[in-house]
Amino acid sequence: MARSALFVFQFLVFVTIFETHWSSVSGIYCKDMASTVYRPHSVTLTEFGAVGDGKTLNTKSFQNAIFYLNSFADKGGAQLFVPAGRWLTGGFNLISHLTLSLDKDAVIIGSPDSSDWPLMDPLPSYGRGRELPGKRHQSLIFGWNLTDVIITGANGTIDGQGLVWWDWFHNHKLNYTRPHLIELMYSTNVVISNLTFKNSPFWNIHPVYCSQVLVEHVTILAPLDSPNTDGINPDSSTNVCINHCYVRNGGDVISIKSGWDQYGISFARPSSNVSISNITGETRGGAGIAIGSEMSGGISEVRAEGVHIVNSLHGIRVKTAPGRGGYVTNVYVADVSMHNVSMAIRITGNYGEHPNNNYDRNALPVISNITIENVVGASVGVAGILEGIEGDNFSSICISNVSLSVQSRHPWSCSLIEGYSNSVTPESCEQLSSNSGQTPVCYSGVSFSPSQVHAHPHRNSVGGLVDFVLHLASNIM
Ligand SMILES: *[C@@H]1O[C@H](CO)[C@@H](O)[C@H](O)[C@H]1NC(C)=O
Ligand SMILES: *[C@@H]1O[C@H](CO)[C@@H](O)[C@H](O)[C@H]1NC(C)=O
Ligand SMILES: *[C@@H]1O[C@H](CO)[C@@H](O)[C@H](O)[C@H]1NC(C)=O
Ligand SMILES: *[C@@H]1O[C@H](CO)[C@@H](O)[C@H](O)[C@H]1NC(C)=O
Ligand SMILES: *[C@@H]1O[C@H](CO)[C@@H](O)[C@H](O)[C@H]1NC(C)=O
Ligand SMILES: *[C@@H]1O[C@H](CO)[C@@H](O)[C@H](O)[C@H]1NC(C)=O
Ligand SMILES: *[C@@H]1O[C@H](CO)[C@@H](O)[C@H](O)[C@H]1NC(C)=O
Ligand SMILES: *[C@@H]1O[C@H](CO)[C@@H](O)[C@H](O)[C@H]1NC(C)=O
Ligand SMILES: *[C@@H]1O[C@H](CO)[C@@H](O)[C@H](O)[C@H]1NC(C)=O
Ligand SMILES: *[C@@H]1O[C@H](CO)[C@@H](O)[C@H](O)[C@H]1NC(C)=O
Repeated sequence: MARSALFVFQFLVFVTIFETHWSSVSGIYCKDMASTVYRPHSVTLTEFGAVGDGKTLNTKSFQNAIFYLNSFADKGGAQLFVPAGRWLTGGFNLISHLTLSLDKDAVIIGSPDSSDWPLMDPLPSYGRGRELPGKRHQSLIFGWNLTDVIITGANGTIDGQGLVWWDWFHNHKLNYTRPHLIELMYSTNVVISNLTFKNSPFWNIHPVYCSQVLVEHVTILAPLDSPNTDGINPDSSTNVCINHCYVRNGGDVISIKSGWDQYGISFARPSSNVSISNITGETRGGAGIAIGSEMSGGISEVRAEGVHIVNSLHGIRVKTAPGRGGYVTNVYVADVSMHNVSMAIRITGNYGEHPNNNYDRNALPVISNITIENVVGASVGVAGILEGIEGDNFSSICISNVSLSVQSRHPWSCSLIEGYSNSVTPESCEQLSSNSGQTPVCYSGVSFSPSQVHAHPHRNSVGGLVDFVLHLASNIM
């Protein structure tokens, strides 16, 4: 492709993504959630003796402030305001009916001393710590059995100072699984918004066994080579909405999960109704949108639209393995742009990684009804590697209106999968039979009555131009 055409193409891809309005889809499952709630009572962290010098350990101040605010839980709730300053702390627990609000110049800093991060039991759906058997470190900000929690700020920062943890990880010095920045368990009505998360020791935002979770206007940053610093990981959770986020990290940008092998199968808590829109991500070692590899409780009704992935290893990825059991079904990913991505679409049936050797080798995952459409990509290494499991074909894998400028001479590689493709450039593999017109077996992204979902975002006239340039580009190439 001529350099100028490539430039115009990239510019239009950018314009399309940023000129599209996601309002109609962004809130499907969270439309009744308020991102701000009036709290009749508010305190400031400094009222509890905190010192924002970046050196004084303020764990007790956070704990005391939240303990005090507990008495307002049944009086409309309360707010803990964190003013400008650098607030070093160990882990602390939230309560229901609480707003944790950061000033724009407030930075909550995780202690570099592992003993400031208490230990807790492994998740029942994982059976052990994700990295090491046994207990795990509790997240910096943690909650259990909560409702009506808002964690927000005018783009204030939560910095995990993960470097020490990454070194312990690389040098095999960890005694227990690394902590996340925020984990909420068994909670409902949770909003996490308008914050920057930096340098998480492990994953950044982990709602597990939750429902009604809204994450929006969040920036997540960690070095591209930091180990497993996943951005947002909804896990065994339902009605989750993730909108307008920017993530640049060393793990998956967003990864939807639901427990691990025999533990996830017996805990049987699925993730469903997950809506994702307007996400920009860059990850050296992970994927933009990932599902799994822990998916043993089942994952369904996932919609991701308006996804922009740059300089990354994978674009869209499903990870599973024999032993996982569970299912991934009714997944719809659309309006994706990629630039400089090694593998645009990947489905992996042999991901491996088991909690121990007692997993059931006959527990095969059911992977079906995955639709990926309206994808453009430039500087893509390989278009797709789609691999099912022997004796367990992955079915109704549908790919349509995909146009990728691919470097490899073997753009697609498929095995043990079945499905359809339509308007895919370069031409997809023979396992996805070509199909013109509507394909009823392909999941369309709508599982509910049309009155519940206004399926398609408005598009402006730039879309037509992109089609034209794409057409032009494919003729030049
Ligand atoms: C959470 O709620 C469950 C069921 O109501 C209860 O058994 C458990 O002890 C609670 N956990 C905590 C930490 O409050
Ligand atoms: C929030 O802060 C981050 C990190 O400094 C910055 O990259 C981002 O653009 C900011 N977001 C907003 C909305 O100001
Ligand atoms: C692991 O445990 C040893 C012995 O208790 C301790 O000295 C060390 O600091 C611990 N390492 C981490 C990363 O917590
Ligand atoms: C969060 O940021 C967005 C975009 O900058 C803004 O529209 C919204 O009002 C902010 N929300 C809160 C609760 O500050
Ligand atoms: C998409 O999200 C970014 C933040 O990552 C925000 O700046 C931008 O305004 C959003 N675009 C739309 C169309 O909502
Ligand atoms: C998923 O969303 C639909 C439509 O809003 C709703 O009817 C259904 O109950 C939700 N499922 C769960 C598990 O909450
Ligand atoms: C493409 O992405 C890789 C990382 O996957 C990065 O090392 C490289 O610098 C990027 N190339 C360009 C031209 O940005
Ligand atoms: C095909 O995808 C492009 C890029 O996402 C989009 O602009 C166009 O509207 C799509 N075409 C159809 C027929 O949906
Ligand atoms: C599995 O899919 C392949 C194509 O990927 C097909 O050739 C084979 O017949 C399928 N196996 C079964 C048991 O349906
Ligand atoms: C797969 O999608 C088809 C068509 O949308 C639907 O009839 C079928 O029930 C879906 N399968 C599952 C397992 O949900």
